[in-house]
Amino acid sequence: MIKEIYKVEREDFINAGKVSSKIKTILKELQVPGALLRKIAVACYEAEINMVIHSYGGIITLHISEDGLVHLLFEDTGPGIKDLNAALTPGFSTASDKAREMGFGAGMGLPNIRRVSEFFDVKSSSEGTTLDLRWQL
Ligand SMILES: Nc1ncnc2c1ncn2[C@@H]1O[C@H](COP(=O)(O)OP(=O)(O)OP(=O)(O)O)[C@@H](O)[C@H]1O
Ligand SMILES: [Mg+2]
Repeated sequence: MIKEIYKVEREDFINAGKVSSKIKTILKELQVPGALLRKIAVACYEAEINMVIHSYGGIITLHISEDGLVHLLFEDTGPGIKDLNAALTPGFSTASDKAREMGFGAGMGLPNIRRVSEFFDVKSSSEGTTLDLRWQL
């Protein structure tokens, strides 16, 4: 059983993506097959970046159970996703100019996260957003 908790700071472009790298390393050490590893890594990276560029910051929890369930939970504080249907539509983005300068804002993150996740659940309010992603090894 593995449980790791990581903090993600808003607009911290220096460290953006580092949690995803760490999680990818852990999964590699567990010899997760390449195709599955890439799916989890893509989802994790996109969700981490979304916390950095769209939220006020939050935490990422990695949970891997004995029976091989990989559970990634992304919990952030506001401002939340106003229109979930729109946010899940390819090409929709409210990314700031700063985020766009860094190369983000194609509006492809959430659609891709949903596509590569075996289980996908997103809950959002003005208090914040929780993204629950799972895969079975
Ligand atoms: N954690 C979050 N908190 C608040 N809003 C979010 C969050 N994640 C996504 N959103 C909203 O959903 C929209 C779509 O997210 P998505 O990841 O698909 O695109 P993007 O981040 O704007 O661009 P890309 O991911 O392609 O760089 C965002 O533009 C933002 O409005
Ligand atoms: Mg995104």
